[in-house]
Parts: sequence; C-alpha cells; structure tokens
Amino acid sequence: MSNNPIKLSAPARQGEIYIKGMMGAKPIVPFDPKKLEALAKEKMTAKAGGYIIGGAGTDDTVRENVDAFAKYRIYPRMLRDVSVRDTSTELFGVKIPSPILTCPIGVLEMVHEEADKAVGRATSKLGIPMIISNQASYSMEEITADMGDSPRWFQLYWSKSNDLVKSLVQRAERCRCTAIAVTLDTTVLGWRVQDLDLMHLPFLSGQGIAQYTSDPVFREVVANMDFGADAMQVPNVDAETFKMVQAFTGIYSRPSLTWEDLAYLRSVTDLPILLKGILHPEDGALAVKYGMDGIIVSNHGGRQVDGAIAAIDALPKVVEAVRKAGSDMPILMDSGIRTGADVFKALALGAKAVCVGRPYAYGLAIAGQQGVEEVLANLMAEFEFTMALAGCKDLGEIGKESLV
Ligand code: FNR
Ligand code: LAC
Repeated sequence: MSNNPIKLSAPARQGEIYIKGMMGAKPIVPFDPKKLEALAKEKMTAKAGGYIIGGAGTDDTVRENVDAFAKYRIYPRMLRDVSVRDTSTELFGVKIPSPILTCPIGVLEMVHEEADKAVGRATSKLGIPMIISNQASYSMEEITADMGDSPRWFQLYWSKSNDLVKSLVQRAERCRCTAIAVTLDTTVLGWRVQDLDLMHLPFLSGQGIAQYTSDPVFREVVANMDFGADAMQVPNVDAETFKMVQAFTGIYSRPSLTWEDLAYLRSVTDLPILLKGILHPEDGALAVKYGMDGIIVSNHGGRQVDGAIAAIDALPKVVEAVRKAGSDMPILMDSGIRTGADVFKALALGAKAVCVGRPYAYGLAIAGQQGVEEVLANLMAEFEFTMALAGCKDLGEIGKESLV
C-alpha cells in the first residue's frame, strides 16, 4: 500500500469535499482545529482528555505554542505561475510528499483500541513518515507489520539501562526505521495538573508500555527483579502486569543523562540521530558539536515546562546557531502545528519539516484510522493552498522573505 501513497492535489481534495457534501455527506472530522479538539474531547473519557489534551501546570505553554504563530504574518506574492506545485521534500535520503511527519504520541489506546496501528496504516496511505513512540500501545513490530515500505522513525526514551536502549534501537532497525529521534525533554514527567486532579497516570495500569513488555532485555530485567514476598497489589491491575509496571517505572528514564552519553547511542547505530526537545540556541550548537544528524525543536506540546518559550519562537535562533556552527542538518519543529499556515510559517523560519501531534490523536479519537487520514490529508491540502496562494511553487521558494 505504501508504495502507492494517495496522490490527491489540494484543489482535487477540496472539490471532492464539496461534491460529497452535495451528495449529503457530512465531514468525518471538523476542519477547524478548535472544533476538532472540542469534538475529540466529547468522544474521550475524562482521563483520556486530561492526559492527551492537557499540559503542564496552567497550560500556559500549550496555549502559547498555538498563539505564538499569529505574530508571524505571511506576505503573499502575486503573478508567479503556481499552476504546477510540488510540496515534496527529502529527509535523510527518503523522499516524502509533504513536509509533515506525525509526532510520537504515547498511550493512544486511551482513545482508540487500534491506537498506533491505525496511525501506521493512515500514514502509510498518505506516505507521511510516522515517528513511532517509545510509549506506544503496540510494539513497533506490530505497528510496522501493516505499513509496507512507508517511512517510519523510532522515538527513543533513554532508559536507565543502556542494554535496553541498544535493544530498542536494534529492534527499530529491524523494523526498518530510518532515523532515531531521542527525546531529551522528558527526563521526568512534567507536573500535569489535569492528570493530578484525576489522580491518574496511564502507565501505572500498564498502558503505553508495549515497547517494554515486548522487549527481551526488559523481560529479563523483570524476571530478575525481586518484588519481595508481599508484592504491592492494586485493584484492576493483574499482578503480572503490575510487575511490568514497577519494572517500567524503575527503568523508564535517566535524568542524569548528559551530552557525553550521546556517544553511546552513536556507537550502537548507524542510523541518523535527531535530538527532540531542543529550544535553546546553545543546545542547537552542542548538537552539532556532538555529531548529531538533526534536531526537532519542541517543548513537548507544553506538557513539560509550563511557561517555556513557544516552539515556533525558539526555532529561528536554533536554526541560526546550528548554521553558524557550520552544519546544514535538518531542523524540524513540533508543538502548536494546527494549520497549513503554521506549516508554512515554520518552513519560512527555517524548519525542513514539521511534526503534527495532538490533531491526529483527535482524529483517531473521532473516527479511528479514517479520522487520522482525514486530519493529515486536510493539513497537507491546506499547506499546499497556503504555499500556492503565497506565490510559492515549491518548498525552495519559501523563505524568510515569505513572512513579515
Ligand atoms: C506526546 N509527546 C510525546 N513525545 C515523545 O517524544 N514521546 C512520547 O511518547 C510522547 N507522548 C505524547 C503523548 C501525548 C498525549 C501528547 C499530546 C504528546 C509529545 C509529542 O511528540 C509532541 O512534541 C507534541 O504533541 C507537540 O505538541 P502539539 O502540537 O501536539 O500540541
Ligand atoms: C508524555 C510522554 C509519554 O508526554 O511523552 O506523556
């Protein structure tokens, strides 16, 4: 399926929507991002809504990620022959139809039982690269089984065990992931007020730990753990699962991680390594110094540091610092991408591509795989319209001068 991603130009998609409307069809997902979130919230349990929609603290950064885009204004140019348009680009030698990837999002089983498998099938249909989460609801082997040749990366959380890190990375290679994005901003989980109010964290009931429970190194850790004679019991979680949970909470993250540790990751894989969660320009320069291959400018969707700078505001300075350090590595961004205009602005500010997060999870909550496809196809179409109407034929024509 992935060899043949659907190729539908933006006007064709727009036309199809209106014609279907004349035949009596209703939209599968709302087109307006705020309505998309509102409908998804209705479809979710309170706990799923708290975890997925919520952020850290007062949600200040969640809001700022979106609001900050408004201060960058597109400066459209006229009479530039945009009849033939090309939104494709290339990342680490892989050609992709649009500068859009899906963010790694954990615990999608909270909104749909097919979770990441549905996302994998949806992205395959469109040829969009999927970044598979370390906290997925299915193992990477299960997720990629239905993805054909469609591009996919693996997102790594660096655990306390380097053996586990190595095992996860090697499994990702076997699953034909073509890059590793190591997330740096979640050495501990942020102070998530909505989850705290509900006194609920999905991992503790065994959700979102499939990459671990399917891993031979992790299973060995569990087998060798001493849970004591009176191991802790909790209602509604069977004893075996709870052992996995306890092993997971013990091993999940390594807050002591430093720049020097990156050499280990480099030593276990030849795949390109991207650092996800960079915001400060000096960290951008360090990524170059430590031989990394790419950056995802991100504040984790405002889920970690309440009050952190909006990702779109951090992007230009990170780009500047990386280029000054002599690297042309691809710099991507996420956190706040909601519309085609957002994608355009991020590219104009120096991003090679963007990752879309919560909106596709909302599509999943509303209509499963089809909902994800609709959200992504709408974003691709809206971006193509924005590009064309701004007077650009392809991504190469989008630059600083495209914005005021
Ligand atoms: C995330 N994000 C995330 N990032 C990561 O590296 N690994 C993960 O497992 C997760 N899990 C996760 C769960 C949920 C529910 C959300 C909303 C986000 C962060 C994600 O990759 C991305 O940085 C943000 O989603 C971007 O913000 P927006 O645009 O989705 O608001
Ligand atoms: C989160 C982790 C899983 O944001 O990345 O919840």
